[in-house]
Amino acid sequence: PVGLFGEQRKNSMGVNLGNDNELKTLADAIAASPQTWAAKPLIPGANLTSASVAVTDPADRRRNVGSWQPADAAAVDKAVANAVAAQPGWDRTPAAGRAKILEHTADLLEANRGELIALCVREAGKTIPDAIAEVREAVDFCRYYAAQARKMLGQVETLPGPTGESNQLFLNGRGVFVAISPWNFPLAIFMGQVVAALVAGNAVIAKPAEQTNLIAYRATQLLQEAGVPAAVLQFVPGDGATVGAALCKDPRIAGVVFTGSTETARAINRSLAARDAAIAVLIAETGGQNALIADSSSLPEQVVKDAVSSAFYSAGQRCSCARILFVQEDIADKVIAMLGGAMDELTVGEPRLLSTDIGPVIDEDARQILVEHAARMDKEAKLIKAVTLGAEAEHGTFFAPRAYEIASLDQLKREVFGPVLHVLRWKASELDKVIAQINATGYGLTLGVHSRIDSTIEQISRSVKVGNCYVNRNQIGAVVGVQPFGGEGLSGTGPKAGGPHYLARFVTERTLTINT
Ligand code: NAD
Ligand code: ALA
Repeated sequence: PVGLFGEQRKNSMGVNLGNDNELKTLADAIAASPQTWAAKPLIPGANLTSASVAVTDPADRRRNVGSWQPADAAAVDKAVANAVAAQPGWDRTPAAGRAKILEHTADLLEANRGELIALCVREAGKTIPDAIAEVREAVDFCRYYAAQARKMLGQVETLPGPTGESNQLFLNGRGVFVAISPWNFPLAIFMGQVVAALVAGNAVIAKPAEQTNLIAYRATQLLQEAGVPAAVLQFVPGDGATVGAALCKDPRIAGVVFTGSTETARAINRSLAARDAAIAVLIAETGGQNALIADSSSLPEQVVKDAVSSAFYSAGQRCSCARILFVQEDIADKVIAMLGGAMDELTVGEPRLLSTDIGPVIDEDARQILVEHAARMDKEAKLIKAVTLGAEAEHGTFFAPRAYEIASLDQLKREVFGPVLHVLRWKASELDKVIAQINATGYGLTLGVHSRIDSTIEQISRSVKVGNCYVNRNQIGAVVGVQPFGGEGLSGTGPKAGGPHYLARFVTERTLTINT
């Protein structure tokens, strides 16, 4: 679709997997990409240590994917100093010039699509369709924020004033932004954060998730190849608790753009507030406890199809995933029976195969949390279905989808980040109670609604406090410029990524009044 506000932009087309020619081109590009990758901090003038962290494939830990070198404290300090020095010059570059670099980056992402898909599959365990979507979204972020920057930042706004006085409004970069990204969208969210901050005139220090540094490194290289100066965008890999925390404590930074867990967002907020420095901006997109409400007018087949894709695809590792299915009593038995049947059809395993629906979870820590949650649910809830894993999964960090019927939402204490769906029945008289329960979680990211009754759709969509509400479809896969994405409450600070108000948070406004 053409973007909001009529800008001349189209979302990326991706790959048509039903077309043999496109499929062959993609397969050849993947085959031609490297088998292993190596990443190191990109910090001009910093001394690098010899430490190295090995990367293995989540689908089979015997497979080597490469290695990365962490930044030490001195390198982190150097990166901030470089960024502070480089930012004013970058901010003075006309916005159209910065936008052009983003558009060039989008072209380079598309030109390197095969390698980026291979990286997403091998380092992050993404299925091929998810990896294709990852590249598309990264491309869309580049072109969308470029278009927004041309429109918003391109010219000085002249304001009215009395005779003899001129008034002008300028938008400038805030300074140095730290971009802290998660592993579950290792290219798209990494790129979205970085390019938004850059195009607004900020210098950026990128600190990606420990699990997916190779993808972020390659993306940084492409941004620099497109023309972003080395000191304006630096790649600073390391643990969140050390490198991430050190960056967020630094008095020289002007803001943090963060996507990850609610707990980490809180920790960053406390660090920023504790600094004896200018007040910094925090843009945080965090977790969800997302519900899908189905009433008795909805179509069970459609509810099940959308519940399966929303809860289990991407191994349930999307912040947007459905975690709780509220199904009205009248259709509950039918929906539950069909859900179990649909889950039997899921193929869990090797993400390199196009026939795979669900790949591994990101690492052993993530798998262990899911195993513990399932052990508790096995005791406290009624198992609807547990998909079984094949023997070929034994060398990877896999967790097969499970669905449980629970008696109360109190049984779910926090976001469960994996392919587990919890089903709760409700009676016709209880819609207000369902809405109140969802709001009481404090999260507000996505909501699915299945109903054919307009007044019910209106009541739910107006009363549940969420950022993204989807009716009679699945609730994952927000498209840049079409469903600006992000939540409220425990789910984030807003503004929405891929939306028309996002860039505004990365700039500072200045006026100039001249008495002539
Ligand atoms: P996480 O919070 O553990 O880590 C995210 C990032 O924060 C990583 O780069 C990590 O190194 C860094 N980090 C960790 N501790 C830090 C600290 N003390 N200071 C600074 N940085 C620190 O989250 P995760 O497990 O990687 O990602 C999964 C979470 O992300 C889920 O809760 C999911 O819902 C959320 N998420 C939200 C969105 C959204 O748009 N709302 C999108 C994707 C993921
Ligand atoms: N933006 C991602 C989605 O909508 C998280 O699924």
